Amino acid sequence: MKKSLKAISLALTVIMLSILVAACNSNSGSGKISVGIVLPTKDEERWVQDEQRFKDAIKDTKYKTEILFSQGSPAKEKENVETLINKGIKVLIICPPDGDAAAAAVEAAKKEGIKVISYDRLITNTDAVDYYVTFDSVAVGAAQAQYLVDHAKGSGQPLYLYAGAASDNNAFLFFEGAWNVLQPKIADGTFKIANSSEAEALKDTAKLSRDQMSKIIGQVTTNWDANEAKNKAQTHLTAAGADLKGDVVILAPNDGTSRSIADVFATDSAVTSYVISGQDADKASVQYIIDGKQSMTVFKDVRTLVKDAMGMAVAILDGKTPETTGSYPNGAIDVKAKQTDVIVVEQSNVKQKLIDSGYYQASEFTGL
Ligand code: GAL
Repeated sequence: MKKSLKAISLALTVIMLSILVAACNSNSGSGKISVGIVLPTKDEERWVQDEQRFKDAIKDTKYKTEILFSQGSPAKEKENVETLINKGIKVLIICPPDGDAAAAAVEAAKKEGIKVISYDRLITNTDAVDYYVTFDSVAVGAAQAQYLVDHAKGSGQPLYLYAGAASDNNAFLFFEGAWNVLQPKIADGTFKIANSSEAEALKDTAKLSRDQMSKIIGQVTTNWDANEAKNKAQTHLTAAGADLKGDVVILAPNDGTSRSIADVFATDSAVTSYVISGQDADKASVQYIIDGKQSMTVFKDVRTLVKDAMGMAVAILDGKTPETTGSYPNGAIDVKAKQTDVIVVEQSNVKQKLIDSGYYQASEFTGL
């Protein structure tokens, strides 16, 4: 009798212990991570913004998440993904520094049965991407260009072109959108290209192929680097004659590069005025817009992108099929995508779009 009682209590203890161990191993337990988030770099304000918005969103989820940064290096990115695989992730949300080079990292995740969500930038030339959450990047470029067109003065105005990094698929989408709007205005003589012989050679081509865009981007890339943008702008202005100065318009691909290009143009006494585009609504650029040093930015509400990415991750973890609105070709497959609209911000609506909407605090700026 005594012996069997002992056996029962031992069996009960074993059962209770195994329940405890199972609980610790479950997704909501303290040990394992369910969602891994890998962002490209901390060196650009845009991605620090995304990190903050992820942190805000994560507070409300029942699943454990971890955010890692790749600091512009595909090798570091691969290492980050491996770390997260070892921590047991089921979903990977990843924004690559280099779209092609990230294939190895996501293929490693895929092998473990992990679902991969390409975040903001599409991972290219691999079938190991399940979903893509993105802004409408072609619309970003179109909005930048439309702003330059809307603020054109007379005809034959010098147009300076700059682009993002060729390793980022978005740089092509932005440029495609911009070219669609600019090309007819180059053809009708409103603008003349000031700084790209490749663009000049293609000025009668309405729709550019990827290879044609590569040629232009190769010449006017900033690599998303403010210093590289500054050096290029300096070189361009040194080479430009008086006919390429005066009132100019500048296609700058994002805010970080826009501020440094604007600073260079502002110090050239032969440049009487400039209109320059931007993207991301970086805090520093919001201040530039208030101060009249940058003309516009394309505001991408990162809260929406984060909500969509986390929403997809949770749907997957809950065994549901995430909602998508279309698809993007990545060179290997068509990736199911959820897309978000963008908003043009200039001096006249900066307060309404960025402060009144609760995105930033008024106290973060001066002269509002
Ligand atoms: C793009 C991104 C932009 C911008 C840029 C520079 O891929 O969509 O918002 O931040 O990279 O990092």
